Parts: sequence; structure tokens; C-alpha cells
Amino acid sequence: MGQNRVLWLLDALERDPRADAAIDKLTRSVRALPLGRARDGLHGRWLGHPVHPLMVQVPIGSWMSAAVLDLWPGRSRGAGLLVGVGLAAAGPAALAGAVDWAELRRQQRRVGLVHAVVNTAAVGLYGASLLCRLTGRAGAGRAYGFLGLTAVGLGGMLGGHLAYRQASGANHAEEVPHVVSEGWHRIGTVDEFPAGRPVRRTVDDVPVLVVREPGGTFHALAERCSHLAGPLSEGTVADGCVRCPWHGSVFRLSDGWNVRGPATAPQPAFDTRVVDGRVEIRLRREDGTQRPDGHETDEAPTRAGSEEGEGHGRSS
Ligand code: FES
Repeated sequence: MGQNRVLWLLDALERDPRADAAIDKLTRSVRALPLGRARDGLHGRWLGHPVHPLMVQVPIGSWMSAAVLDLWPGRSRGAGLLVGVGLAAAGPAALAGAVDWAELRRQQRRVGLVHAVVNTAAVGLYGASLLCRLTGRAGAGRAYGFLGLTAVGLGGMLGGHLAYRQASGANHAEEVPHVVSEGWHRIGTVDEFPAGRPVRRTVDDVPVLVVREPGGTFHALAERCSHLAGPLSEGTVADGCVRCPWHGSVFRLSDGWNVRGPATAPQPAFDTRVVDGRVEIRLRREDGTQRPDGHETDEAPTRAGSEEGEGHGRSS
């Protein structure tokens, strides 16, 4: 069965380069905003996933409720109040969306730009709606409100395409614990891992980043960045962390924790050990042991981590 027209249009939008110059300019402007540590807060690093979808609940919910009241005779005051609440909440939600947008792939930013334009139109329509209501033109206020809600619905459809079809905001390392098999996996001999240099290996078709510290401790993380699958083995290793080459997320080598965004999810981490000069790794499960299905439970990880020993390497 072929694509339907809506999907064809959305896919065509991803491929359309006509707005790329404006997108690049806007991207630079958003990245230059002096947000400091608040930028990671707007990405949702504290929440473990993007905060923008959470923040848009307030304007969408307010405007939807206003539409219901507008259909109910005698409730125009309440509807006007809800339109105002939605407008007040739209700004912070848009800012969170903008900082996420600036760290997306080009095809995602093309769709994201249209999503933003449509939602900006919705804000304009609701602004006009509020103005009409405040100046005694309730009928026009209702009409602008319904037009605004239509624009919000279109913006929501584009946001859904961005999130679910283009996977922006998703954890791109989520499948790793479901793909890597239980137990220890040999990934090479010690001398194949030069100290301080990131090395890429593969376990069960899952790319793994391996870093050997100058002291001999080995660290291993899932290699594809949780943000948008950037290659961490091409990143920079410093201060016990690796920095993604694509958008600069920083992950702690000892446990995969995302110490800096835009990544909102940590990297899956592996225990390491050296046996007879060969490096072995084992996926670290969330509870620090193997799965509760009877496999490998007698091999709980330990904290020591160096050549000819087992490396758990978890730090607080
Ligand atoms: S892919 Fe975006 S920070 Fe790694």
C-alpha cells in the first residue's frame, strides 16, 4: 500500500531545502541565547526526557477548555481567562521547544520550523481572540479562538511527526539492554586499546565505545549517543567523560551518566574485566546485577577496574 497524501506531504517537507538558510541562521541564534545551565533544564535533562511536550499541555489544555466554554452560552468570561492563561504559558513552552529544535538533524529542523510557524500563528490568533474579548467583540473573539485551535491541531500533528516518525527527543540508546545478550563478551586484547583513545567495538551488533585509562582501567559505554545516535567513538575524551561530536552531550565514562545535554538519557554502561590479557565486557543492568531470570546472577559486578581485574567503575 502506498503512502497517503498527508504522509507524502510531511516526507516531502523533510526533504525540502528551501528554508535551510533561514534554519541555519535561526539555529545559530537559538544556540547563542545566554541560557547557561537553564538550557539543560529546558532540554529536560533533569526529567530524563524532553520537557517541551510536558509544557505544551498548559496552553493546549487551556485553549481546548476555552473552546468548550465558547460553545456553552454565558461562559465567555471563563473562556477569555483560559485564552489568557494559554497565551502566558505558550512562551516558556516555545523556548523549551526552540532549544531542542536547535540540536536536531536538518530534516527534523525543517519540519520543526513549520511546526513553530504554525504554532506562532496559533498564538497570534489567540492574541487577537483575547483582544476582541477585552473590547467587547465576543463573537469575533470566539471565531479567532476556533481558528487558533485549528492551527494548534495542525501544529500538534507536525509535532507528532517530529517525535514519532523522525524520533526527535527519543532515547536512541533505549534498545541496547534488549539487544545485548547476557554474560561476558570478549572484545579484544589489552594492547588493542591505546590509553586515552576511544575505540569502537561491536557486541551482538551493538556498537560499543571502549576507553582504557592511562592507569589501566577500562570503561565501556553504548557507542551511539542517546540524543540522536552520534558516534561517541569519534568524540573527545577528557576528565573521565566523553563528549559527543555531533551536539556536545557529555557522558561520564564510569557509568554513562549524561552530565551535559542536549541528551536527556544516559548511555547504557558495561562492566569490564581483563582475563588472560583479553578484555571482556558485560552489560550493566539497572539494578547492578544481571537479569532476574536466573542467568549470570552469581557474577555480580565488583567495583575494582583495571587490567587483569574486573572493572565496574561506577561512581556517584
Ligand atoms: S547525537 Fe546529539 S549530542 Fe550526541
